[in-house]
Amino acid sequence: MLEFLAERLHERDAQGLTRRLRVAGSPTAPRQRVDGEPRLLFCSNDYLGLANHPQIVAALQEGARRWGAGSGGSALISGYGEPQRLLEERLAAWAAPHIPGARVLGFGTGYMANLAVVSALGLAGAALFCEALNHASLIDGARLARADKQVFRSVDELRAQLEASQAAHKVIVSDAVFSMDGHLAPLPELLRLAERHAALLVVDDAHGFGVLGAQGHGSLSHFGLHSERLVWMGTLGKAAGVAGAFVAAHPTVIEWLLQTARPFIFTTAPPPLLAHALLTSLDLIEGEEGERRRDQLELLRAQLRAGLAGLCAARGWRAWRLPDSDTPIQPLIVGENEAALQLAAQLDARGLRVPAIRPPTVPAGSARLRITLCATHEAEDVDALLEALGDAA
Ligand SMILES: Cc1ncc(COP(=O)(O)O)c(C=O)c1O
Repeated sequence: MLEFLAERLHERDAQGLTRRLRVAGSPTAPRQRVDGEPRLLFCSNDYLGLANHPQIVAALQEGARRWGAGSGGSALISGYGEPQRLLEERLAAWAAPHIPGARVLGFGTGYMANLAVVSALGLAGAALFCEALNHASLIDGARLARADKQVFRSVDELRAQLEASQAAHKVIVSDAVFSMDGHLAPLPELLRLAERHAALLVVDDAHGFGVLGAQGHGSLSHFGLHSERLVWMGTLGKAAGVAGAFVAAHPTVIEWLLQTARPFIFTTAPPPLLAHALLTSLDLIEGEEGERRRDQLELLRAQLRAGLAGLCAARGWRAWRLPDSDTPIQPLIVGENEAALQLAAQLDARGLRVPAIRPPTVPAGSARLRITLCATHEAEDVDALLEALGDAA
């Protein structure tokens, strides 16, 4: 077995697929020590720059004083505390304009939440319709599900699949913002189809929550969606700056998850201090500070896209593509793994960390730099990235 594994690892290495851990030696921020060296990062999902916000850090400290360190058990046994209940109520109020009577259930991570939702709703006899670009956690949830599974690449393909399906229950599953591409799913069209075919629509808002919509309330708010068929998953370790996740849905769906979702039932509940701190995080997201941070993100995004478009035009980067993206995720598609790795290495040599994303995370031949922006970046940071990319091209 060891020899077999070593050979497979060697093969992966030869294909430019080896990943390695880098050690952050200072708190999450655009400028961070990484492996002992100062780096300017364009790779974190801390979109609003809240991960090291003094008010959230203070709330964590207060949470630890009031609630201790650990939850001590799974939520259904002894690990469900008052802060978690308050957090769920608060998020239910965010969901209510979009999902009438919404109830919320919290999870330790978005990965677990997606595993829970898709496996618990993907019952035997049901059919899951999964968008091709879905996050790995949704794909893994589908693998655990007993339902029939189909992958769709467009609204038209989904429509045809739904029309042909004889399944008793139908569940459509999609990222709201595609994590490696940055563009938004056509959620209004997906919801129209869900309504027509009496399907549930599971929306993974990992990258929209906190960033999109009125007061950062996410993708359902961005599109003004309203339906009891919506199942809204959001993560709390990205724009919210802490950790965890939630699912908001019709109370019957939430009760079903509570009773049957194994990734919810058979795991230790998150420490209560996290929920305590997340209440502060939600205040910041929907308050004036959140607005300011979202405005700053938009300025940075416009600056980056204008700069990249200028570089593409000036240098004729035919092989490189900058797909449309209205979010802080801005991929620069380079093509082959080696080319992406080389470009990332050239940037690294200039003190910039922009990861090369390769298969299986993205399709073969579409290796890319995944540039992400945070509200705590400065305009000069974006200039530095554009200059380094210009020199590397
Ligand atoms: C689209 C998407 N869904 C789910 C997750 C998982 O969330 P978490 O990091 O909280 O486990 C991520 C990121 O990691 C993601 O990008």
